[in-house]
Amino acid sequence: MSAFDIDLIRSQFPAISQANGKTSPVFLDNPGGTQVPQMVIDAITDCLINKNANLGGPFRTSQEAAKVFDDAHHAMVDFVNAGSSREIIIGQNMTTLTFHISRSIGRLFSPGDEVIVTRMDHDANVSPWLLMARDYGLTVKFLAFDRETYEFDMAALDDLLSERTKLVCFGHASNLTGTINDVRAAVALAKSVGALVFVDSVQFAPHGIIDVQDLGCDFLVCSPYKFFGPHMGVLWGREDILLQLDPYKVRPAANTLPDCFETGTLNHEAMAGITATIDYFAWLGRTSAEPHHFQRHTNGSHRRQQICAAMECLTDYEIPLTRQLIDGLRSIKGVKIHGITNPNAMEKRVPTISFTAAGHNPRDLATTLGDNGIQVWDGHNYAVEPVNYLGLMETGGVVRIGLAHYNTAEEIDRTLAAIDRILQS
Ligand SMILES: Cc1ncc(COP(=O)(O)O)c(C=O)c1O
Repeated sequence: MSAFDIDLIRSQFPAISQANGKTSPVFLDNPGGTQVPQMVIDAITDCLINKNANLGGPFRTSQEAAKVFDDAHHAMVDFVNAGSSREIIIGQNMTTLTFHISRSIGRLFSPGDEVIVTRMDHDANVSPWLLMARDYGLTVKFLAFDRETYEFDMAALDDLLSERTKLVCFGHASNLTGTINDVRAAVALAKSVGALVFVDSVQFAPHGIIDVQDLGCDFLVCSPYKFFGPHMGVLWGREDILLQLDPYKVRPAANTLPDCFETGTLNHEAMAGITATIDYFAWLGRTSAEPHHFQRHTNGSHRRQQICAAMECLTDYEIPLTRQLIDGLRSIKGVKIHGITNPNAMEKRVPTISFTAAGHNPRDLATTLGDNGIQVWDGHNYAVEPVNYLGLMETGGVVRIGLAHYNTAEEIDRTLAAIDRILQS
């Protein structure tokens, strides 16, 4: 009997458990943003009531606000296994943080230096680098993926690398195909020519353990609103690299890390929410993980161990659901999944599943599902490169279903039945 009690988990999320007498929607729009547990909402409310002041004042609420700041940075240290809170930069969202740091990173390079981006990434890990390359006279190379396996060929990355490669920008998991990429292998190759590596973990973060020490990259970004938290973004940077960068900041702001990269007044209440989100994972580890989920995680803070166990336990829960959804979609006539479908290779993907249905416009299909209380995305979802590369842009992109650990087998059955009904009618 698993300790993973789905009813207990769903009861933490008011959007699911308090539908005011109505049936709660089937939230399969998770790759665009997840629902939020009550403990996160409570922390945000508490901050607005009891800790609502700007930083640096000689009075209680300002000192409380400083603690909110500190706690959020330390929570993210535990989430990504950072070296210290100096390496954690919190900001508006991943896109804004990436544009922001790209200006400083670009100053390290000289005209003719090379940057590698990929055909699988969300545009937030492509456009900032294209614009940086434009501004600093750099050459951009694109790493393609295999259209059959939906994976990168590391030999192809090796071919693109040269002595002039200064930066490789790589997705941890695709928000379109769902592929989990071999970041460590990519980092090893990039490091062989001395390049920096910037990793987008936005889609991976709700589904797996992030360990920046193990990955070996130089920067990593994620967005708490994709992992049950508030709308903010977080950038981790290796301290020795961050210290080499020239921050774009106002003169009175501190010159120390991470403050020098955290421009203006941040969203304090959302930062209180970030800490509570990380504590939610720790709670999940305590209540839902089994002893074997902890076995590989005996290092790091107690909270880090609980987070890692929570992630292992929710992967165990999500994999059969992913398989159920993929098998069900494959059995519906006319459906093509654009991603890994091998039932024995589910650990190579996150549960973000994109598909097209012959003769059906993705927007129409998503709209009809929405009318039936089933929330899914359609279009390119800002994964402009992969949707173009797969030749799907002109036909409206894909329908995208994304699971989270609060979804159930019944919801998937209901979704599959609805898709089947719509496509056959
Ligand atoms: C893989 C990936 N990267 C980046 C982003 C952008 O994140 P943000 O909204 O925090 O800028 C998204 C958002 O969907 C995403 O899925």
